[in-house]
Amino acid sequence: MNESGQPRWGIVGTANIARGQFLPALRQAGGVAAAVASRELASATEFARKNEIERAVAGYDTLIGDPSIDVLYIALPNAMHAEWTIRALDAGKPVLCEKPLCGTLPDTERVLATAERTGTLLWEAFVFPFHSQLRAIRQLIADGAIGELMEIKSNFHFPLRNPGNIRLSSALQGGALLDVGCYPVRLAQELFGPSWVSAWAHATTGDDGVDVDTWGVLDYPDGRRLVLSCGFGRSYDTFTTLEGTAGQIRVSNPFHPGPSDSYQLVTSGQVARTFGAAGHEPSFTAAIRHIHEVIRGNEQPRQLAVETSLPTATALAGLATCFLGNSAPWQARS
Ligand SMILES: NC(=O)c1ccc[n+]([C@@H]2O[C@H](COP(=O)([O-])OP(=O)(O)OC[C@H]3O[C@@H](n4cnc5c(N)ncnc54)[C@H](OP(=O)(O)O)[C@@H]3O)[C@@H](O)[C@H]2O)c1
Repeated sequence: MNESGQPRWGIVGTANIARGQFLPALRQAGGVAAAVASRELASATEFARKNEIERAVAGYDTLIGDPSIDVLYIALPNAMHAEWTIRALDAGKPVLCEKPLCGTLPDTERVLATAERTGTLLWEAFVFPFHSQLRAIRQLIADGAIGELMEIKSNFHFPLRNPGNIRLSSALQGGALLDVGCYPVRLAQELFGPSWVSAWAHATTGDDGVDVDTWGVLDYPDGRRLVLSCGFGRSYDTFTTLEGTAGQIRVSNPFHPGPSDSYQLVTSGQVARTFGAAGHEPSFTAAIRHIHEVIRGNEQPRQLAVETSLPTATALAGLATCFLGNSAPWQARS
């Protein structure tokens, strides 16, 4: 940390998400953008200059080994998360790795085993569980506002027009389910718990064999379920309905709420009540603030990957198995 107690971050990869979401939130959360690494020095230099990062570094390894860096943000294509997260954890550096933690279940298990073995802090960049909106929605549910939550219907669609995008590459472990379908899956885990029972999904695939339009169901005990829809071919849509025995909560964006987002409580016989999502700061900010407080020793870590990532990864694997050639529902491992 610098003299003011600000954690010094290293950014692995010159990714769009680092520029567009992570860096504005990092500044709001009071961290230092100390260095960015690219495969090419020229890319790192350009990215550092445009985004006011202190230093540019050639090679991800060089950044991981840099003793002046406190914590790493890994924003690489999904297929590269395992290798670079394991290297960072072995070097003893706390990591915020982009979601999904890995593109495959075996890679997820290897990464989590490394985090356990090294005892190094690792978070998967699902930031919405840190946001005040999810806390407020949990409270409504706990207060019985919609009775018992039985079904989550959740979308994550957006239009993807660039054929060279990493999300359309099979080798880089793209695909709609891993890229955006992981959000409804993680939301269901937050609200129903980690133990799902069976999975069914279907998908339309693109030129490189990745799923580009995907829909499915995750069954939970006692008839509860997630019905999800995700893809790259529609306008931006994250609309989600939490359906209970006595009402619904309709959420315009559970995952990255912005200033115009809201959630609405609808119960029969009552006037619907609408609440602002409190999206006045970037959706990453609360998560980064928490990481800073953990590094400073002021908070116990929450939402660590070793506690949260495996159920998400097994559910994603279960759903994907259904459209990768086996149409029978996938049973959870006991
Ligand atoms: N949490 C969220 O809200 C959120 C939102 C969007 C994306 N994401 C996740 O963030 C990660 C990055 O997504 P993105 O859209 O920001 O990616 P992107 O803009 O395409 O950037 C990926 C970076 O990875 C590096 N890279 C290394 N090998 C590569 C290869 N073979 N092809 C392409 N790039 C390669 C490149 O950096 P260098 O060339 O500098 O080495 C590139 O800048 C993904 O895991 C994605 O799922 C998360």
